[in-house]
Amino acid sequence: MNTMTPLASHARYERVIKASKAVRWDIDADVIRGRSFDRSEKYLPDGLTLVQDFTTLGEDEKRFVSQIQGLTYANIFGLVERFINAKMLEISRDHWLGDQTALEALVRFSDEELKHQELFRRIGGMIAATLPAGYRFDVDPNGVATAVLGKSTWAVLALTLDIELFTQLHYRQSIEPDAALSQLFKDVFLYHWREEAQHAQLDEMEWIRCDDGLGETERARAVDEFIELVAAVDGILQAQAASDASYFVASVPRAIAADEAAAIRANFLKAYRWQYIHSGAGHPAFGKVLTMLTTEAQRERIQSALAGLH
Ligand SMILES: [Fe+2]
Ligand SMILES: [Fe+2]
Repeated sequence: MNTMTPLASHARYERVIKASKAVRWDIDADVIRGRSFDRSEKYLPDGLTLVQDFTTLGEDEKRFVSQIQGLTYANIFGLVERFINAKMLEISRDHWLGDQTALEALVRFSDEELKHQELFRRIGGMIAATLPAGYRFDVDPNGVATAVLGKSTWAVLALTLDIELFTQLHYRQSIEPDAALSQLFKDVFLYHWREEAQHAQLDEMEWIRCDDGLGETERARAVDEFIELVAAVDGILQAQAASDASYFVASVPRAIAADEAAAIRANFLKAYRWQYIHSGAGHPAFGKVLTMLTTEAQRERIQSALAGLH
């Protein structure tokens, strides 16, 4: 039994609501504030783009890599927040006729996630307007959400906690000293994390609550499904890394030979795996809950699946 007492969990839901109210922000008044993106700036920080690995590129080309990855960042969040929100609305059902404080916490979560989807759509459009034509992001958020939501709630909440925790690391990377980094994108990281911090708390609580109702066989199956979900995310990242590398090669003025193009594609993929898989899976808070809910053998299976994605 991992469940908190009803009193302890009620108090934790209350704290989450209080924090959610305290940090609440507006897309225009707080984040965008009439600003726009500027091609003279980096959009994503070096700690996320892993730009030091793009050793054959000049400074302007490295900055372009950060701008392409910035646009993909907006698109990936538009994608994952679709299924995260749908899952939260689904599990809020468990609280409809129960603890109304828990229900309020999840409703606020959902409302914030709808706002984040709008933020990333806006940011994505603003970034795209600064970049040359030809960028593509062909993944359909509803198609991905339908596939993800076909897995068990345990597996979806595990993936969701991973994602919502990595926004913290992304924020931390964005505050590293770097005068060339877009102030607007820094604010996207800051404000997004301020609300994601509460989401990560709720993911943890709901994941533990969900786990408590599972038998051994169901949990073993859920662990497999979590591994399948991570593999599915990786499939999306592989396709997008290839697409973004091709866009880069087609957009820069110099000719890029096949071997350099292959290295650029590999570096995009390495950065995307770092941004969207490992930076959350390696977060101590993720490890803490996973250790609480799984056996050592199950964790080894997860670790070896993650280790295959390097
Ligand atoms: Fe979000
Ligand atoms: Fe979130």
